[in-house]
Amino acid sequence: MPGRYTLAKSVLSERKALHPSELERRDLPADAARAVRSLAAEISVTLDANAATAATLTDPALLHHIDTRYRELPATVHEAMRPPAGDTGVTIIGSIPLRDDELGRTPIDWQQAAAWAGHPERRCASYELDIVMLLLARCAGEPFGWQGQQAGRLVNNILPTPGKEHEQSGASSTTLLAPHTEDAFHPQRANLLMLGCLRNPDLVGTTVSSVRRVELDAAQRDQLSRPLLPILPDVSYGTDFPDAETPPIPTLSEVDGQHIFRFDPAYTPLDDADLDYRTAYARLTSELERVCIAAALEPGEVLLVDNDVVVHGRVPFSPRYDGTDRWLKRVNIRLPQRLRPAAEATETGYGQCVVAPFRTTLGIHT
Ligand SMILES: [Fe+2]
Repeated sequence: MPGRYTLAKSVLSERKALHPSELERRDLPADAARAVRSLAAEISVTLDANAATAATLTDPALLHHIDTRYRELPATVHEAMRPPAGDTGVTIIGSIPLRDDELGRTPIDWQQAAAWAGHPERRCASYELDIVMLLLARCAGEPFGWQGQQAGRLVNNILPTPGKEHEQSGASSTTLLAPHTEDAFHPQRANLLMLGCLRNPDLVGTTVSSVRRVELDAAQRDQLSRPLLPILPDVSYGTDFPDAETPPIPTLSEVDGQHIFRFDPAYTPLDDADLDYRTAYARLTSELERVCIAAALEPGEVLLVDNDVVVHGRVPFSPRYDGTDRWLKRVNIRLPQRLRPAAEATETGYGQCVVAPFRTTLGIHT
């Protein structure tokens, strides 16, 4: 089955219109925002001798600092990092203090970003901002990474990368990044996705669409609740899964009255579905376009996305490749208290494993 799917056409027309007023916004008091940077700086200096720590973020000493000291952050920070509350399933948190001249050049790919973060002479704010992201993510839940993605780094760098302009991944640029659930293929995908903006000079919009705002009739919901098609891993995990099981999964589920939604048309073999299913899927797709909101993040802003009810994407843009490009940091977050459908417990996730140093023992399935 892997490799048989056809790449879906762009399912969201290009949108330049921004609708920030529809998004929930939580602005940190200036002293609280400064406190996040200060704590990150303190931790960074404490561990400064170890360049490998910055490159990989796997040093147990760093993880211990994050796991114990995030509690020192002001209550307003903890409050701001709770899951998004409204129907849009998205919150913008503003704003971590950040100067453009702290960043150095925007790297051209995640490998360069990781190497530069740990380079003793190049050392820029990137490493300290990785720590900021981990502290904020730890306030929200349990930050984690993937062994097969960006070498398991807990904070991913999202950068336009030469040669990947047309990929359906965060490294693309000139193509529309179609709306998708982050890591929809995997039962241990994030409950929350956090995107922190370092640089966005052309105000490129991040798109978000909430399944809570779509209108579907009962028959369409029934169709989309059928476990009919698999979702395959996206290209950032590679393309070779010869022995992987490809379990069919439902697009829509409900647990404890809460919607759970998995959607990634670019990696779903829709041609294998019957007409009724494809019609319902097309309706859902057009509804997601109707309710789509685009947010152009500014440096220091953090976008918190509920990955169980919201799909996200990005409008096309022209990469600069001159050291001033758009630069986001991304963290996956698990909410240990949130349940997932029991059927997901049998999925193997195409052999992809999480890096989850903050994991607690609470279960994730009903
Ligand atoms: Fe994504």
